[in-house]
Amino acid sequence: MSRLTIKELQNMKSQGEKIAVLTAYDASFASLLDDNGVDAFIVGDSLGMVCQGHDSTLPVTMDDMVYHSANVARGSQRSYVITDLPYQSYTTVKQTLENAQRLINEGGAQMVKLEGGQQQLENIKELIKHNIPVCGHLGLEPQSVKELGGYKVQGRDEDSAARILNDAKALQQAGIQILVLECIPASLGKLITEVLSIPVIGIGAGVDCDGQVLVTYDMLGISRGHKAKFVKNFLQGQNDIESAIRAYVEAVKKSQYPALEHSYQ
Ligand code: KIV
Repeated sequence: MSRLTIKELQNMKSQGEKIAVLTAYDASFASLLDDNGVDAFIVGDSLGMVCQGHDSTLPVTMDDMVYHSANVARGSQRSYVITDLPYQSYTTVKQTLENAQRLINEGGAQMVKLEGGQQQLENIKELIKHNIPVCGHLGLEPQSVKELGGYKVQGRDEDSAARILNDAKALQQAGIQILVLECIPASLGKLITEVLSIPVIGIGAGVDCDGQVLVTYDMLGISRGHKAKFVKNFLQGQNDIESAIRAYVEAVKKSQYPALEHSYQ
């Protein structure tokens, strides 16, 4: 079985087929997600919280990301693998390229993800120049949690909504091929999804995005602590983990998740 390609994900957007994405951090989960219809994984630096027990993504290192990404790549055959560049791993163009090359070459990633808008344009252009596919991440950017003063919904006022929209356009112009939008009003998620030609994957960005992603442990209801409004436990009412994954994929494909109760206004 061969892996999905970015072209196939792009075709899904063109044809109106929703893209089901979940996070993966190890081979066993990657294999289960792969077998049950998940189109793409994000090997997210959220592993800092759900695997390592930190209270943010900031302590996660490049070695951590390479290790987890390689485990996920080994455990899967079909899903497209997107791996996060962690905090402080893309502060210069040279560092960005070297670290992205590690995620691709050692970590088996198909694409790397980085957070931020206009300030990332030079980094993105350098990666594209070296044939490294890039995923952007706007809205709530967890690596900026200190500057943001906590995990808060973004884009609620006119200025910040306009900034996120302009950043999204600039990132696409610079060459990103997927955009993740986190914790923004559903109306802004819809607008950005309509304006961009690349697939837009939402997490707390409303049902109109081209696809959805959740932290797998949240989707299974096994994460501890604060539960964000957009989180839904798909294990509830199912007998096992594989049925829960299939229920998530089906709900995303049929635009039944996220419902209004999981969306920000
Ligand atoms: O680290 C992470 O889990 C993410 C989410 C958006 C999926 O980046």
